[in-house]
Amino acid sequence: MSTLHTFATLAEWVDFAAERIASAAEWAVPQRGRFLLALSGGGTPRPLYERLASEPFRGRIPWAKTHIFWADERCVPPTDPESNYHMAHESLLRHVPIPALNIHRVQGELPPATAAEAYCADLLTLANAEYSWPRLDVVILGMGTDGHTASLFPGSPLVYSGAAVPVTADYGGRPAQRVTLTPAVFNDARLVLFLITGAEKMAMVTAVRQGPPQPLQLPAQRIHPTHGELLWLVQE
Ligand code: 6PG
Repeated sequence: MSTLHTFATLAEWVDFAAERIASAAEWAVPQRGRFLLALSGGGTPRPLYERLASEPFRGRIPWAKTHIFWADERCVPPTDPESNYHMAHESLLRHVPIPALNIHRVQGELPPATAAEAYCADLLTLANAEYSWPRLDVVILGMGTDGHTASLFPGSPLVYSGAAVPVTADYGGRPAQRVTLTPAVFNDARLVLFLITGAEKMAMVTAVRQGPPQPLQLPAQRIHPTHGELLWLVQE
């Protein structure tokens, strides 16, 4: 079950998402002693990251107990402008008091398979007993006009083993070699936020949410948290 919220302005869209993230953090830390947040790359989430680095959200989020992960990463160095880590670092992480050890970046400077293995090992260090990854409190996802999300692209396998895998993709001139979390990790999360802006994506939002099931071609349809909440936050 998913809920769609539409917003007239980017500011309202950003503040709604920031509020949900801050509220989740304020609940998670007293309950479990930590807040686990997975970020996506691309251009859409940047205004949200910048907003989380500003008050009141900067002061509300318990950064010392917050752990940051990535839904996916391009296999480029962390200083590369195409790196999802680089975008998050510039817009958010360098502006908040988060311990360096709490930033669990994918080592994009490594070969994809090696980077994926290292990321799985990192996830395992925080895992609960049930799976080889921790249950994430919030996952931020984008979506391409082709229905991909994270680095799960049309025609990619429906079933994966493990938490993170290397993939090769050709999208929008962006780096092709990537590492992505698998749907099992996303569907174990407590809250998944699909962040969508731009009129060009609206038809795909409708196809994914209301069209016939075709998860092979529309990977965003593979995201349906088994015991969590799925929100679509849309601003045209
Ligand atoms: C990436 C992202 C990817 C992104 C979509 C949407 O590494 O590129 O994780 O899944 O969310 O491609 O990108 P835009 O927000 O730039 O439209």
